[in-house]
Amino acid sequence: MSKRTLVTSALPYANGPIHLGHLAGAYLPADLYVRYKRLTDEDVIHICGSDEHGVPITIAAEKKGVSPQDIVDTFHEQNKQIFEDFGIDFDYYGRTSSSTHHKTSQEFFTKLYEDGVFVQKTEEQLYDPEAEMFLPDRYVRGTCPNCGYEDAYGDQCESCGTSLSPTELIDPKSAITGDTPETKKTTHWYLPLGDFQERLEKWLDTRENWKPNVAGQVKSWLNDGLKDRAVTRDLTWGVPVPLDDAEGKVLYVWFDAPIGYISATKEWAEQQEDPERWKTYWQDEDTDLIHFIGKDNIVFHCIMFPATLMAHGDYVLPKNVPANEFLNLEGKKLSTSRGWAVWLDEYLEDFEPDLLRYVLGTILPETKDSDFSWEYFQNKVNSELADVLGNFVYRTTSFTENYFDGTVPELTNPTDKDRETLAQITAQKEKISTAYEEFKLREAISETMNLARIGNKYFTEMEPWQTRKDDRETCGNTLHVCLQITAALSILFDPILPNKMAELRDELNIADKPDWGEVSDSILDSGSSINKGAILFEKIEDEVVEEQLQKLRDRANEQTEEPDHEPIKENMQFEDFMKMDLRAGKIVSASHIENANKLLKLEVDLGFEQRTIVSGISNDFDPEKVVGQNVCVVANLAPKKLMGIESNGMILMAEEEDGALKFVETDAKPGSPIT
Ligand code: 2FM
Ligand code: ZN
Repeated sequence: MSKRTLVTSALPYANGPIHLGHLAGAYLPADLYVRYKRLTDEDVIHICGSDEHGVPITIAAEKKGVSPQDIVDTFHEQNKQIFEDFGIDFDYYGRTSSSTHHKTSQEFFTKLYEDGVFVQKTEEQLYDPEAEMFLPDRYVRGTCPNCGYEDAYGDQCESCGTSLSPTELIDPKSAITGDTPETKKTTHWYLPLGDFQERLEKWLDTRENWKPNVAGQVKSWLNDGLKDRAVTRDLTWGVPVPLDDAEGKVLYVWFDAPIGYISATKEWAEQQEDPERWKTYWQDEDTDLIHFIGKDNIVFHCIMFPATLMAHGDYVLPKNVPANEFLNLEGKKLSTSRGWAVWLDEYLEDFEPDLLRYVLGTILPETKDSDFSWEYFQNKVNSELADVLGNFVYRTTSFTENYFDGTVPELTNPTDKDRETLAQITAQKEKISTAYEEFKLREAISETMNLARIGNKYFTEMEPWQTRKDDRETCGNTLHVCLQITAALSILFDPILPNKMAELRDELNIADKPDWGEVSDSILDSGSSINKGAILFEKIEDEVVEEQLQKLRDRANEQTEEPDHEPIKENMQFEDFMKMDLRAGKIVSASHIENANKLLKLEVDLGFEQRTIVSGISNDFDPEKVVGQNVCVVANLAPKKLMGIESNGMILMAEEEDGALKFVETDAKPGSPIT
């Protein structure tokens, strides 16, 4: 069956430039996958664009003192260009402010409204009287009721990942004025996700090869039971709700943004002068719809958007959602506000795109968070791109030019070793194809580099610089094998290193349109001519790495609003301190708490008694590892219920700069007062 694949990459908010975290999350893996698919001659299109609505845009506009329109106009153009410069080859890069998108998302809303899908509710919502506006979720900050994190957003706690509604926050504050918001009645339309739970579960059961991180998160949402989700907001920036009685209301950005994939496909079809063609990608069951996203977008692409599509009825549902985890930078969480990021435009001022495509590709956070460092970048460029791939290609082509007049030698009376080495081309190609098909892009990259390793090792072992003197046939065979491997690499590496491989194919006089199907042990005809090219990859010196690190440190220092240490709190009186009863203790048992990502239930021995303490340490410690741990306990903290469990006290922890928690230990006997 001839397959059709529609790949989408998360529409980035047009509120700032693209950085390495964006690339590693969605755009690079999507581009690798799509470029591979294109080489296999499958029908594939890659759709993306700017997400131009929602609070992230209005917040950015307020910060800069410009209009939301200015913000999206600036970053839409900038981001579109930088993706292009980096070789992220979208078939279409749309924007959600386009009239096609407004019309498409309004039609979606109207259909669901007319079909009676939505539930209309008038409810109390948080309102900031001074700012005279209802507060969108992201404009409310407060304490997470799940893990106690004090700076949770109204829609999600960044610390434990729990999805929240603003009214659930403890001690909520308006992000605009800092005041405690009031509640006020307002009417909105909700998608009753609970009504779709069974259908979603059935559909998800039919999905194959989903990554465990994605399947796990979806399962946990379903286990918690799906709740109604508002699809409208009281805002002026966004797609207006297409109803008469909805003045001042717009579609919720997470309702309209995924529909942006459809609108952008429509615009692409128009551009192809085949305006109805979008339908074959969105409405024909033979389409494989694949969403590449970062992990913070999972629920929207695996539950909310599929429910919207199901409610509509005319659309295909995603076949797979290969969401990635997050990328850290130099061991720390990426943070644009703290200047701890590498922006793509800056990178491109100093280096070629292909280097980062390769290096980042080897550390895509496919199953867990990963870390990019400049030292790693240098290492990978020098020891793999330069020493393995570049070296192999250069020694092969220059030897051919120098000793065989730039002509591919015949393969005559090949030995088993020659044949076995040639056979590695198709063996590796199979491995690489399977890895791409299974969205294991890191593996696809490492298996591709393995073929260059095989070639390099064979060249060294065959010592053509010796055989050329006294065994011309063997020497010719060696070069024939190496040239076939080089030609295969020029195609197999194309998704990863598109610019370099185009150069290489040019040297090898191979047709410029690479074709995966043509990768075999005889791509080059014996007797055909090749040219020795320039060195493909230059090594990166230590000073260059140090410059990048310095740039990063300088910017982080400039932009940081916080001192490099946690500021000392206000002075307190001795009597206040003396009110606190600190005791030595020992953890005697520990267990996870269902549905609480960050909390552990601990039984703590205080010598004279044992008590239950709920502690937010499960991201840092497995329960079995903390049993026997000596701890300091705030023993007279008023009891508090957390996730239904009464916690009697608090364990003292120290938090290191990168957020890692460490126990404050004492070897005093349990129960000993700490004074
Ligand atoms: O997280 C984000 O950057 C969102 N703008 C992604 C939207 S993806 C899709 F739904 F449009
Ligand atoms: Zn939390």
